[in-house]
Amino acid sequence: MKKPRFRIHTKLAVTYLLVIAIILLLINSQVIRALEVNYLADQEAKTLANANIIALAGQDYLLSDYEQTVGFIKWYGEQMQSRVIVLDRQGRVAADSFTEEWLEERILSFEEVKSALKGEERSGVHSLKNGERVLYAAVPIVRAEKTAGAVMLVTDLEEIYANLESTRRLMIFSSVIGGIAALLISLLLAVQLTSPINKLAAAVRKVSEGRLDQRVGINSKDEIGLLAEDFNEMAAKLEEADRTLRHFLADASHELKTPLSAIKVLSQSLIDSHEQDPAVYRDFLQEINSEADRISALVNDMLQLTKLQEPDNTVQFSEQQVGALLKHITGLVSGEARRAGVDIMVHTGSDGEIIWQLNQSLFTRILLNLVSNAVHYTPRGGTVSVTADIEGDFLLVRVKDTGIGISAEDLPRIFDRFYRVDHDRNRETGGTGLGLAIARQAVLRHGGTINVQSSPGEGTAFEVRLPRTQ
Ligand SMILES: Nc1ncnc2c1ncn2[C@@H]1O[C@H](COP(=O)(O)OP(=O)(O)O)[C@@H](O)[C@H]1O
Ligand SMILES: [Mg+2]
Repeated sequence: MKKPRFRIHTKLAVTYLLVIAIILLLINSQVIRALEVNYLADQEAKTLANANIIALAGQDYLLSDYEQTVGFIKWYGEQMQSRVIVLDRQGRVAADSFTEEWLEERILSFEEVKSALKGEERSGVHSLKNGERVLYAAVPIVRAEKTAGAVMLVTDLEEIYANLESTRRLMIFSSVIGGIAALLISLLLAVQLTSPINKLAAAVRKVSEGRLDQRVGINSKDEIGLLAEDFNEMAAKLEEADRTLRHFLADASHELKTPLSAIKVLSQSLIDSHEQDPAVYRDFLQEINSEADRISALVNDMLQLTKLQEPDNTVQFSEQQVGALLKHITGLVSGEARRAGVDIMVHTGSDGEIIWQLNQSLFTRILLNLVSNAVHYTPRGGTVSVTADIEGDFLLVRVKDTGIGISAEDLPRIFDRFYRVDHDRNRETGGTGLGLAIARQAVLRHGGTINVQSSPGEGTAFEVRLPRTQ
C-alpha cells in the first residue's frame, strides 16, 4: 500500500493557516497604524486648540506681568494636563508652568517655536532622552496685529502609546485564539473532505488487486460524489466484463469438450478393438473427421467473434450493390435449401439497385448467418424471403421465414453466445450457437441495429438496420 508523502488534509490545513495568519497580520498592523495616526492627529488638534486658548486669553499680559502669567499658565496647564511655556519674540523662555529655573531665559529653537514666531502655529512629536514621547504645539501670541511671542504646550504622549500597546496586545491575543480555532476547524474540514477520497483510494486499490465487487458509499453531491458514482459504474462494468469472459471460457470449454471426448472415445475403441474390416475403420474415421470439423467450426466462430470485439480492429467500408450481394449470399445456401425443400426469394424494394456503404465481408457474414438459420429452422415446403429497402437514413434488410419460430421466453437470449433453443437437435444441424452473436457484433460494427420478431409455429423475421454514414 502506497502512502502519500504529504497528505491532502495537511496541505489544506497548512494553506488555511497561512491564509488566516497573513490576513490577521495585515488587519492588525493596519488597525494599529490607523489608530496611532488618529490618536496623534486628535491630540495635536486638541493641544494646538489649547495653546490658542491660552494665547488669546492671556494676550494682554502674557509677556508683561510675570507673576500673573505664571499663575495663569499654571492653572491652565493643570486643566490641560500640559506644560505651558511662554516665549518672547526671540524665542526666549519668559515663563514656564513647571517653573524650572534651568529653563528660564533660555532660547528654544525647536521648529515649532520658530514657526510660531513667524506667525504660524505648528506641532510635532519629539522623543526625549529617556525615550518618552511628547507632543510640542506652539502658537503665536498676537498683539496689535503683530507676533509678540509664542505659547508652547508640551503634552505627554506616553498614555496614548500605552493605550495603543494594550490594544495591540489584545489584538494579538484574540488573533492567536482565533487562529487556533480556525486551525482546528480547518483540520476538521480537511479531514472531512479527504476521508471520502481515502475511501475511494482504498476501493481503487482493491479493484486493482482484482476484487471487482468493490463499491463505495459516498452520496455527496459534489465532485467527489460524482467521482464515486463513476467509480462504482466502472467497477460494475469491469465485474460484468470479467463475468462475461469467464462464462465465455466456461461455455467454450464445454462446447469443445463434447467433440473432443467423442474423438477420444472413437479413436480409443479403434485402438482397443481387433476389428479387421477396413469398412469399420472408415466409418469411425469419418465420424472422427466430422467431430474435428465441428471443433474447427467452433474455433473459427470464436476467433471471428473475438476479432469483431477487438476495439483496435478497424472496419473498412465501401460502396456495395445490395441486391447483387444478396443474390450472391442466397446463392451460397441455395443447394442446402433445395435439399431441405425450402424456397428462397430475394427482393429489393426500389426500382434500381441500392448502393450502400458496407463492409462486404461483415455484411455477408450477417446475412449468411440469418439466411442459413432461416433455412435450418424452416420445415420442408416453407419459404425464406430476403428483402432490402431504404427507410429514411437506413438500409433495412429483412429475413423472414415460415419456420418453427422461437418462443417468447427464448427470444431475448438467442443473440447470446452459445445459446441454442434446442441444444441436442441443433447439434445435428451443425450450428455452433455463435452465429447470431457474430451477426449482432457485425451489425454493431456498422453502427446499426438488429431486431427479431417470432411466433412459434408460424415463423421468424429478423430486421437489420444499417445507417447511411458510419
Ligand atoms: N430463423 C430461426 N427460426 C427459429 N429459430 C432460430 C432462427 N434463427 C435462430 N434461431 C434459434 O436461435 C439459436 C441461435 O442461433 P445461432 O446463434 O445462429 O446458433 P446456431 O449455430 O444454433 O444456428 C438457434 O440455435 C435457434 O434455436
Ligand atoms: Mg446459426
